[in-house]
Amino acid sequence: MKINSINIQNYRNIENMSLEFDDVNIIYGENAQGKTNLLEAIYLFCGAKSFRTSKDSELVRFGSEFASLEISFTNESREQNAKIVINKRRKASLNGIEKKSAFELSDEIKAVVFSPVHLSMIKDGPEMRRKFVDNALCQLKPKYKILYKEYYKTLKQRNSLLKEISAGKKYDAYIDMLSVWNEGLAKYGAKIIYQRQKYIEALTPVLCEIYEGLSSGREKISLCLSCGFDSQNLSCTEIEERLLNLINEKQKNDIITSQSSVGPHRDDINILINGNNSRSFASQGQQRSCVIALKLAEASLIDKICNSKSIILLDDVLSELDEMRQDYILNKIDDRQLFITCCDVASVLRLKNGKTFCIKKGALS
Ligand SMILES: Nc1ncnc2c1ncn2[C@@H]1O[C@H](COP(=O)(O)OP(=O)(O)OP(=O)(O)O)[C@@H](O)[C@H]1O
Ligand SMILES: [Mg+2]
Repeated sequence: MKINSINIQNYRNIENMSLEFDDVNIIYGENAQGKTNLLEAIYLFCGAKSFRTSKDSELVRFGSEFASLEISFTNESREQNAKIVINKRRKASLNGIEKKSAFELSDEIKAVVFSPVHLSMIKDGPEMRRKFVDNALCQLKPKYKILYKEYYKTLKQRNSLLKEISAGKKYDAYIDMLSVWNEGLAKYGAKIIYQRQKYIEALTPVLCEIYEGLSSGREKISLCLSCGFDSQNLSCTEIEERLLNLINEKQKNDIITSQSSVGPHRDDINILINGNNSRSFASQGQQRSCVIALKLAEASLIDKICNSKSIILLDDVLSELDEMRQDYILNKIDDRQLFITCCDVASVLRLKNGKTFCIKKGALS
């Protein structure tokens, strides 16, 4: 799919802007001019919350009552338009027909965004890495969301029972109930682990190819699900057995801490470069490369299911990358529309095909 043009009014520091896009688009300019704002405006059309804030009210230009965004886009050779109006609530329409919620635009418009905040996927604890895989699975398999909710409901119930047991209430009666929650946790947990494992297996070959291109064949990336046992090649039932054993083993300790210490809510996805854990050993450029490659691979898997190419939005992606890696991003990502923001004009000169936009004080300069 391709966004042909955008019209923006009163969005953050952008008062009024109309742009026509190409396949590759570089948005450049000095700091605090509105580059990320423009990228963020485009991203809203895939139905998601902003990648910077969950408060829509922050998106409206100071002093204005509402923001208005409109795009014309082509999907499966059909030219369409979508509109978003933000005041207290976000309203969206597609080809003039109002949608029940802005989220529904996600059926038509698919985008993957990289923002420097996503570097926490490498730098921080496991939460963001789990989120990456879980969000992808929610997009690919609608039933995963239901499973995920069931798991967390069971986890919450088990934790509150653990609290009651550790407070000394009716130990004997409650301990039987606990084994029921243990089984529930293992049942739903195993399905989550199984799906995550399958996703990682599907993502890996695509990811490796992209990472190899980015690093000009110098480095190898690999992913590995860390869930307390080797979940590769195990059936869902086998995973359930292993998980239940682990849960039972840790039960005594869980009662003392009133927390469930095993299960997919504690798992991690290890991202390795040349066999070393990226969290501890990757350089700044390697960390960036990892996240970019993960995002591009994610887009590739979405494309296979949706039969169209998602848009890629890369915010401030080029800094900390050497020329070779910059060249890959600017000139080697084929077949899909790309939006890249940067401060450095030198990067703009390395672009072989595409369009450049210089942004100054929220306007095209
Ligand atoms: N609701 C708003 N109304 C008006 N201005 C806003 C609003 N929200 C943010 N801004 C302003 O928009 C400006 C540009 O922000 P943006 O993040 O797009 O900059 P940028 O060009 O990406 O800069 P950098 O290169 O530093 O990332 C900021 O100075 C910010 O104060
Ligand atoms: Mg920015």
